[in-house]
Amino acid sequence: MQKYFDFRSDTVTHPTEAMRTAMAAAEVGDDVYGEDPTVIKLEEKAAKMLGKEAGLLVSSGTMGNLIAVLAVCGRGDEVIMGTYGHTFLHEAGGVSALGGVVIHTIPNQEDGSLALEDIESAMRNPSDFHEPISRMVIVENTQNACGGKALDAEYMRSVGLKELGFHFHVDGARIFNAAVALNVPAANLVEQADSVTFCLSKGLCAPIGSVLCGDRQFIKRARRIRKMLGGGMRQAGIIAAAGIVALDSMIDRLAEDHVRARNLSDGLAQIPGVQLTKGSPNTNMVFFKLDPALGISNQTLIEEIKARGVLINDTSDGEIRLVTHNDINDSAIERCLEALKEVVTV
Ligand SMILES: Cc1ncc(COP(=O)(O)O)c(C=O)c1O
Repeated sequence: MQKYFDFRSDTVTHPTEAMRTAMAAAEVGDDVYGEDPTVIKLEEKAAKMLGKEAGLLVSSGTMGNLIAVLAVCGRGDEVIMGTYGHTFLHEAGGVSALGGVVIHTIPNQEDGSLALEDIESAMRNPSDFHEPISRMVIVENTQNACGGKALDAEYMRSVGLKELGFHFHVDGARIFNAAVALNVPAANLVEQADSVTFCLSKGLCAPIGSVLCGDRQFIKRARRIRKMLGGGMRQAGIIAAAGIVALDSMIDRLAEDHVRARNLSDGLAQIPGVQLTKGSPNTNMVFFKLDPALGISNQTLIEEIKARGVLINDTSDGEIRLVTHNDINDSAIERCLEALKEVVTV
């Protein structure tokens, strides 16, 4: 198989040797019976790192967010999130299809956040039976489609402190990228959140899995919903073992991805015809567009770059997103910049 430098996403990362070793040696049991010691260890560790009472291993970030919504909202209730929210854009409408939950979007600001005033004015009047009941707000951190933006602890706290009676869920698929970028413990970013999902399988390089964290009551309910969705896994310690290695040894390394994303962005800024669209990267994502005057479509760009050994993707907004991760080293950044230069100067 041809070896590419793959900038499409941090989800393409492979498990490390330490993960494979830990997986092979993992002590396992039937997790649906609550008997897998490695899963229990991961869930306890994750909850502690996020300052929550309990955790639940789920198969994906999508499942974590879906379970959180289903644990809180009934049919006809609504969940408020950003127009760039992953749950709105890229989770196949699961909360509506499976839970009958209405998605109410409000604009993301340039920094990825949701304005507190917008959250407040989106909340429905609970005594008006014409309206759905606003039960939940989801904030994404880092905010992927806004440029991988890291939202700071002060902002995150201010959402949770709003006394509007909603459940505050954080889609923290990349919460550790945010924590590393802001140089704070991840727990500080979700201190006021009622629940948080984070992914083991993105920049942290585990092959599978996310963890949903919250208080004991919430996680008890979430466990039942996970079972209902067919997400109760048996000897899942095999997966959890890699997750433990991810939490123990792959978080600090994310800083390297952030430096490389900045180098990549600086290099792109030097290429005529390349327009950075989301500003200088906060974390591990860089977004750009080509000047239409170049007459190069995204499809052509993607194919030409691939022919030069680099994989990239475009977004539904017509931008190109480049993501740095454990398999992207300095030579990959150089190759990507060279390939782009070659294509745009043809
Ligand atoms: C912000 C965000 N939330 C949730 C998810 C869903 O994660 P998964 O692909 O594990 O379902 C992603 C995936 O890229 C994401 O970027």
